[in-house]
Amino acid sequence: MEQDTINLMKIAAGKAAVDSMVKSGMKLGLGTGSTAIHAVRRVGELITQGALRDICAFATSFQTEIECEKLNIPFFTLNSKELSAGLDLTIDGADEVDPLSRLIKGGGGAHLIEKLAAYASSAFAITIDESKLTERLGNGFPVPVEVIPEARVQVTKTLDKLGADVILREALRKAGPVITEHGNIILDVRFREPIDPSLMETELNQIPGVVENGFFTRKVPVVFIACSNGTVETRPAV
Ligand code: A5P
Repeated sequence: MEQDTINLMKIAAGKAAVDSMVKSGMKLGLGTGSTAIHAVRRVGELITQGALRDICAFATSFQTEIECEKLNIPFFTLNSKELSAGLDLTIDGADEVDPLSRLIKGGGGAHLIEKLAAYASSAFAITIDESKLTERLGNGFPVPVEVIPEARVQVTKTLDKLGADVILREALRKAGPVITEHGNIILDVRFREPIDPSLMETELNQIPGVVENGFFTRKVPVVFIACSNGTVETRPAV
């Protein structure tokens, strides 16, 4: 599919999610990535127009913080008295979405803070284009596992015993690995046999040295799916 078409689909998904779910006065988690950024931009647009007021946002990455700064969206830490670790809604993107609306996230390396936001939210919305739908998580996209640098080899060995192949995520315009916003590395993990993502979300986090993994199975989102025919389908959270 053409890049322009995919971009229009991402814009449409973000607009649909914001227009139907964001209300004035909300404590709002804002996700990361090339799709979530369009939801952030729509929030900024509505604030500028005066159609949204008193939004207290939480930005899940430096990318999102910078966009909030540009758009004058007020943002706070999760520990702030404004948010006090409670959000009304988080809107984010995803790398894969299965038929139960379980997710793989972390293509942009922000899944640690994205999961904090999602699991601190009363409601959760995911914006995707239809290419992100999959029958089984991990079919097309590895699950990212954020690991403290000291645990790289030990965690890799443990993952191999769990039946997974592991690739250390390399940076694009820096020599060596990606270093996350919390000083960690990312292992991209592909399981050799089908696994249960809900069990694996827990199991991966029990490995010493693992900070967080990219399976999101405990918070069922409303999913806004932008289709190539220009429509956006809404799959409710059930
Ligand atoms: C960031 O770490 C991610 O979880 C993104 O939300 C996810 O990778 C989807 O990104 P795109 O919308 O850019 O594909």
